[in-house]
Amino acid sequence: MKIVKIQVMCCLFIVILIASVPSLSFAGGLIDMAYGRDIKSDRSKEPIQPVPFSYDNNRAKTDLGKMLFFEPRLSKSGWITCNSCHNLSTGGADNLPTSIGHKWMLGPINSPTVLNAKFNLAQFWDGRAKDLKEQAKGPIANPMEMASNHQLAAEVLQSIPEYAQRFKNVYGEEKITIDNVADAIAAFEETLVTPNSRFDVWLRGYDKITKEEEDGYILFKEKGCIGCHNGFGVGGNAFRKFGIAKPYDKDTQTLGRYNVTKNEKDKYVFKVPLLRNIELTAPYFHNASTWSLNEAVNVMAEYQLGTKLTDDETNKIVAFLKTLTGDQPEIIFPILPPSGEHTPQPNRN
Ligand code: HEC
Ligand code: HEC
Repeated sequence: MKIVKIQVMCCLFIVILIASVPSLSFAGGLIDMAYGRDIKSDRSKEPIQPVPFSYDNNRAKTDLGKMLFFEPRLSKSGWITCNSCHNLSTGGADNLPTSIGHKWMLGPINSPTVLNAKFNLAQFWDGRAKDLKEQAKGPIANPMEMASNHQLAAEVLQSIPEYAQRFKNVYGEEKITIDNVADAIAAFEETLVTPNSRFDVWLRGYDKITKEEEDGYILFKEKGCIGCHNGFGVGGNAFRKFGIAKPYDKDTQTLGRYNVTKNEKDKYVFKVPLLRNIELTAPYFHNASTWSLNEAVNVMAEYQLGTKLTDDETNKIVAFLKTLTGDQPEIIFPILPPSGEHTPQPNRN
């Protein structure tokens, strides 16, 4: 009887607490709380929304996912990790025209960032993976990337006693499956968000950007960039043709979305990239055709909008884009467990 009463009291207390702090009940509320008051700003109606904080509600799983993200034994050579090409020290990408994979093979396309990737409507430039979990299985078995295979990757992990134990703790099963490997990696990637950029703080009602940067944002809207680059990620929520106003003639080999749909009108259609942290992730475009953010903006104006920007306009838009750099995830480098006696050895061939 007494216990029931205490439970009822507890429930009541929690209900009252939630009701009295409305900003606790939606994602992002904690940011406002951190500033001491709940901001009601007209800027909340802008077509770009602040990156919500991520809530790490299954620590055992995200810790496991982090280990796997940094785990070279998932590659055939025992040397390449997800972090090799999505370096969390450099904006979640590798700053190379195309990535270097197994046996120094050069991939066909620029590596996008993993930061905020959860805001993408699908993964990869052509959207061929529906979500992060499906995506994570790809590189492990891609002969030009980690060059392992799903069976071998699971076998390697199974042979390492600490992994066997950790997978059992998280998934309740002795047997490690590639599905669970991908699930844990995806859970870790869900935490890789970059809230609190100066632009987001401005969106929440604080004057954190300069006049020049604000002018850049106004141009970004007026010129039409916002039509494709909007939402939490300032991109990531649509597939659009590269070369709408003027055919893009610098790469006619990479067919984009067409590879998935085989629909003629999807030729040269790509997922609109996220522009969050864009200053960290040069070179730009799927074919890495430029290292200059100014030039990337000019290319967009010309090929997507059929217009030419003045130098002053380009500089202002670039100044705005640089306000989109948020707090980078703070990663404590994971210490990986030693191999077991029967762990398959790395193979560099
Ligand atoms: C050898 C370099 C390399 C390795 C290793 C690698 N990736 Fe990638 N990753 C890429 C490239 C290149 C692409 C773009 C491929 C495409 O779109 O066709 C990509 C795409 C992605 C994307 C999609 C992002 C977006 O905006 O569409 C995610 C997420 C991702 N990788 C996560 C991972 C994870 C997790 C691992 C480890 C299991 C990993 N990658 C290993 C190079 C690599
Ligand atoms: C019609 C849709 C559309 C419009 C309008 C548009 N973009 Fe893009 N943007 C894209 C697509 C699609 C890509 C990917 C192109 C590629 O590499 O295949 C892209 C790529 C970019 C990139 C490179 C991102 C990266 O990670 O490599 C930048 C920067 C960019 N856009 C900025 C802008 C700016 C600034 C404007 C306005 C002047 C603009 N965009 C207008 C669709 C659009």
